[in-house]
Amino acid sequence: MNKKQKTFFITTPIYYPSGNLHIGHLYTTTLAWVFANYKKNLNYDVKFLTGADEHGLKIQQKAQEMNLSPQEYVDIQSAKFKELWKLAKINYDYFSRTTNANHAKVVLNVFQQLLKKEIIYKGIYKGLYSVSAEEFLTPTQAKFKDGKYFHPVSEDQLIEVEEESYFLKMSKFQDWLLSSWKEKENWIYPQQIIKELENNFLEKGLEDLSVTRVSFTWGIPLANDKKHVIYVWLDALFNYLSALNFSLDDDQDYLKYWKNGDEIVHIVGKEITRFHCIYWPIMLKSLDLKQPTTILSHGLIRDANGRKMSKSLNNVVDPIYLINKYGAEPVKYYLSTQIIMGQDANFDEEHFINVYNSNLANNYGNLLSRTIAMIKQSFTGSVKYCENKIEKYEKEIFNSILQTKEIYLDEMNNFKIDKAFKEAINLSKKLNNYIDLTLPWTLKDNLERLEVVLNTLLNGLYAITCFMSCVFKEKTQEVLKQLNLTTINFDDIGNWNLFNDKIVEKGSLLFERIK
Ligand code: MSP
Repeated sequence: MNKKQKTFFITTPIYYPSGNLHIGHLYTTTLAWVFANYKKNLNYDVKFLTGADEHGLKIQQKAQEMNLSPQEYVDIQSAKFKELWKLAKINYDYFSRTTNANHAKVVLNVFQQLLKKEIIYKGIYKGLYSVSAEEFLTPTQAKFKDGKYFHPVSEDQLIEVEEESYFLKMSKFQDWLLSSWKEKENWIYPQQIIKELENNFLEKGLEDLSVTRVSFTWGIPLANDKKHVIYVWLDALFNYLSALNFSLDDDQDYLKYWKNGDEIVHIVGKEITRFHCIYWPIMLKSLDLKQPTTILSHGLIRDANGRKMSKSLNNVVDPIYLINKYGAEPVKYYLSTQIIMGQDANFDEEHFINVYNSNLANNYGNLLSRTIAMIKQSFTGSVKYCENKIEKYEKEIFNSILQTKEIYLDEMNNFKIDKAFKEAINLSKKLNNYIDLTLPWTLKDNLERLEVVLNTLLNGLYAITCFMSCVFKEKTQEVLKQLNLTTINFDDIGNWNLFNDKIVEKGSLLFERIK
């Protein structure tokens, strides 16, 4: 009997359509997409979600500025997001929109349940609000200058509000949250975030969260108290469940990918980790729902000089420009490999070009073209594995292939995507080095030995191609064609007989050098 296919549900944040997406958003979405591909390669049943967070005061204001209705405005912006993902060749399974009618139903169902349980109650909110971050802040969390309050990170001015509001009893779950953070290994990654959240939020004591607004209308109105619209973060976080039809008639996806699912991973940038590591777990807990397996928080991309990207500095890196210039796959490769998971990084186009040339053109691409060219020069048929002709260098390469596979899988399973890909490139370097040691061009009169060397190279190339396939969907097809194979199968790494009946084909250059 077949083993049940494991499930993997992976999400990006749903992005605000109040502006254009930049390279930071592409970074998050690329990470999620690469993990989705990785799990598909391991035969998981994968669901990959991205989308747009379409409510809130900021969107209402933006639409007004452009003389559009909020709905017209978000329709235009969400269509742009989809175009960007198409250009970036990122295929997702579901695009969440918080203006979708089913999503509103889910959020209202949730709200109703929490009211009934008395976890949500009505009161008066008096405090500070950041329109740009759609975030409530206490005076101690804000920066105070010249009699005014500012957001501690974006430095945007905060508004003081006093209005009727519904609240979620966060304080009730404080102890539960603290102990859960500590008990569950891998729940929050990287772990040091927990310390920061503890120091900045839990030690001061969690305040109840205001979950409705009455001062604007662009949101989901409460069914029985229509002047209140639901707070954008409660609205937005539940997209992860509304996308699976949670609490609706046909909730098969919810049962499959969440309730009875195997792995649930949210990828978020560090500035919104707090919403995902404090609010979201508490919201789920208050409904007695299962928690995600992992909340993965990554660092921020800054400009080449280490400054925060912002419109006013005119230093925002546009992903459309990069993709049109260099192609979608190299850009996604760069983002997956050159930024240490969890740390901030500067984006520098010069560095991008250097990485492209050294890793892709001179290393992996060159290995492929050299290997195929040498085979075609001396053999008309396949080059076979011959166990009893293996020498010291081959043994080392075969060991390296198996070791790299082990490390690669381990790094990927622990979300260290940059390290995993570096292993693949190192293996490619070793193989190029192996060519320099064995000097195959001097073996034209010793075809037996030449066959051993070239077969070893093919086995190495196959392993590297498997590893790289999580980011190079299209290039992998070109390589497979040259290797006369049709699919990637990680289980075949180490099956040294794979090429015994494969006649390889010459193809075009995999990566042209950038001059
Ligand atoms: N709408 C909320 C998320 C709701 S999720 C339930 C939001 N949207 S956003 O448009 O501001 O996007 C924030 C996300 O974009 C970050 O968490 C991060 O993933 C990505 N990035 C935005 N700027 C970034 C950088 N400069 N660098 C890397 N990623 C960044 O917050």
